[in-house]
Amino acid sequence: DDARHDGRTAYHFQPAKNWQNDPNGPMYYNGMYHFFYQYNPHGALWDIGNLSWGHSVSGDLVNWAALDTALDPTSPFDANGCWSGSATILPGGTPAILYTGIDANNEQVQNVAFPKNPSDPLLREWDKPSYNPVIPLPADVPGDKFRDPSTAWLGRDGLWRIAVSAEVSGVASTLVYRSADFLRWERNAAPLHSSRAAGMVECPDLFPVKEHGDDGLDASANGPGVRHVLKLSVMDTLQDYYMVGRYDDATDAFVPEEPERGDDVRNWRRLDYGHVYASKSFFDERKDRRVLWAWANESDSQADDVARGWSGVQTFPRKVWLDKDGKGLRQWPVEEIETLRRKRVVLGRGTMLNAGALNEIVGVAGSQADVDVAFEIPSLADAEALDPNWLLDPQKLCGEKGASVPGGVGPFGLIVMASGDLLEHTAIFFRVFRHQDTYKLLMCTDLTRSSTRPGVYKPPYGGFVDVDLEENKSIKLRTLIDHSVVESFGAEGRACITARVYPEHAETSNSHMFVFNNGTDTVKVSKLEAWELATATVNAVGDAGSIV
Ligand code: FRU
Repeated sequence: DDARHDGRTAYHFQPAKNWQNDPNGPMYYNGMYHFFYQYNPHGALWDIGNLSWGHSVSGDLVNWAALDTALDPTSPFDANGCWSGSATILPGGTPAILYTGIDANNEQVQNVAFPKNPSDPLLREWDKPSYNPVIPLPADVPGDKFRDPSTAWLGRDGLWRIAVSAEVSGVASTLVYRSADFLRWERNAAPLHSSRAAGMVECPDLFPVKEHGDDGLDASANGPGVRHVLKLSVMDTLQDYYMVGRYDDATDAFVPEEPERGDDVRNWRRLDYGHVYASKSFFDERKDRRVLWAWANESDSQADDVARGWSGVQTFPRKVWLDKDGKGLRQWPVEEIETLRRKRVVLGRGTMLNAGALNEIVGVAGSQADVDVAFEIPSLADAEALDPNWLLDPQKLCGEKGASVPGGVGPFGLIVMASGDLLEHTAIFFRVFRHQDTYKLLMCTDLTRSSTRPGVYKPPYGGFVDVDLEENKSIKLRTLIDHSVVESFGAEGRACITARVYPEHAETSNSHMFVFNNGTDTVKVSKLEAWELATATVNAVGDAGSIV
């Protein structure tokens, strides 16, 4: 469907119009997926006093029906905004929402909300009890730095715990509160994490993962074979970071697996090397998996947002699990995306890409596609030497050694959202470096040529990917293309790069896709499948009936 000329997406979550930011309270309840999000019902820009919780439901995480807003800033304890929060399914099956209210004094407080009618299968209306806030602003926290309660988990002592972001005496802290009844909450003396360096952190997510395998776990799971992931969003860089560790519910302490990364969250692992923020995960009981959402903001101007009448998309929901190394996460689009696959094309198995090769992938619309490709590297002998300084700034390296800068092993990868004359294009690529007696794999998404329109933020993005190239000479890349979104999963989900693109050619003509190689070494395409994806029903006006 090339009829979407304003960058509006075909299968990434967006409200019908207006501003959205953080994913809030995702859950699977009573046979239905619920997705809430930070929403300004009055316009296409974020507006400090006007945040509501948008609400949509889905049976498959692909097609969504919009419901009325679930929370609006109408009470003294949230009069100036209903900010981010999370959902918890209580024993007995009632869901509860915890969220941050900006109260009538412009102070951040934590509130609870329950379904007005728990037997309504869509949970359309939410009740905000008048006893809110359940957690008032602590005396040692500034009024504008106390927010984003996590999903609650149960400890073996039978008490609920939540994580809340706060700045305490100038230190970015992830506080833990405990409660027996979900109403009275008591703060632990020790935070789960604190950092002097990172500035304010937001949207904490602490979730369990299995040590082995890719199944998900309920928020309260712990014990042998369980690790925990602490994910934090850092305001200073507008990036999400995480570390894998062990969480002990006797002391409410999180002990990271990589202590050498230190307290400064900016040195933790990146969830995505591109443009996402404020991610939040939930346990999907239906398919025994953990699913993660993240907000991908626009990269053009506010004036553009206003002209379009909307701003912000969510990443396609991702299954997340722990990699075999026990330190990194794997992320992968939920399998339901395959229901959108229509036309399929393959590139001949064993296609060789010589230096300078540029092979077009023909037969599927280049603006709504799912591309899965495996490259085989015949030899690592010609890998370029790595300057150790580059290890510190892979994003800069992706800029200096862009897709058109020849190398030894790579750059090779995909070129997408390309105009016929290639003046506009977005490159997702790999480059192999020799470092001491080992090899380093760099993955980049280079946006510098993505649009000829002025006023668009077009950085190079990238990071090093943890793979043993000597053991495994096949490098895989999956890219989802959706008009203004290019969302890539490298090395089977070990590195993700989400980018927003605004190609001008898309307003009047089709977009092309290619595989390319600008390294001196020939690279083999051992597999390439590309599908055109159908347009999902995402919050289309009047379509609720067909989904629920
Ligand atoms: C993160 C954030 C949250 C806050 C919300 C307000 O993007 O700043 O900390 O609750 O957005 O919309």
